[in-house]
Amino acid sequence: MDLRTIFNSFGAREDYRQIIEEFNDFIKLYEMALLELQSDIEIIELEWQTRYEYSPFEHIKTRMKTPQSLHKKIERKGVPFTIEGIRDNIFDIVGLRIVTSFEDDVYKIYELLKGRNDLKIKRVKDYIKNPKPSGYKSLHLIVETELILSEGIRWVPAEIQIRTLAMDFFASTEHKLQYKYNTKELSQEMKDELFEVAQASSQLDEKMTKVRNTILID
Ligand code: GTP
Ligand code: MG
Repeated sequence: MDLRTIFNSFGAREDYRQIIEEFNDFIKLYEMALLELQSDIEIIELEWQTRYEYSPFEHIKTRMKTPQSLHKKIERKGVPFTIEGIRDNIFDIVGLRIVTSFEDDVYKIYELLKGRNDLKIKRVKDYIKNPKPSGYKSLHLIVETELILSEGIRWVPAEIQIRTLAMDFFASTEHKLQYKYNTKELSQEMKDELFEVAQASSQLDEKMTKVRNTILID
């Protein structure tokens, strides 16, 4: 395909160019927030390691929502196709996932985040206490992170998912299966099997916590 067609179409339409520039500026804000949030979390992790020689963090993963995925979500939710529509309705353009070793670490990290002045927790969904019908477990926070710009302070929304390695194993693998086979096609039998995998993952978490508690008591 000749890409010149695309480039020419951008240049040819002044009104398009303006919209694209406005959209790019809007998305840049989220990119900056992602950098800010990521470094905040990495500093917390380092501080924890320095102070306790143990860190509840197993690993951290960040992502920006792709334009394709943003497009799909806007359509699915019936959000107006405007910058204001996206700003007021889509809160997971910035995504950060914190994976921990133990289940109580999830809540330790949550408490820590709650205490920060540069983070506002707007919504909490506890899918650990109330798992999804699929068996999915995770603690989801919709937050606003403080972004200090030369023009002033901006609070930018982000989604933080906190879960254990075992929960992450289930979620990531199940997500891949959904993509490969398209969930609507998954038979009840497959869903039941996946649910069993989720239960088994939860048992791993329980067993690990038991082992750790025994070690701590000894
Ligand atoms: P979205 O419109 O998808 O963002 O849903 P929501 O606004 O109701 O948020 P929710 O907290 O339910 O889910 C947000 C994200 O959690 C999803 O985009 C997935 O990454 C993840 N998630 C939720 N449910 C499941 C599930 O059953 N399986 C897997 N693998 N991931 C899930
Ligand atoms: Mg900060």
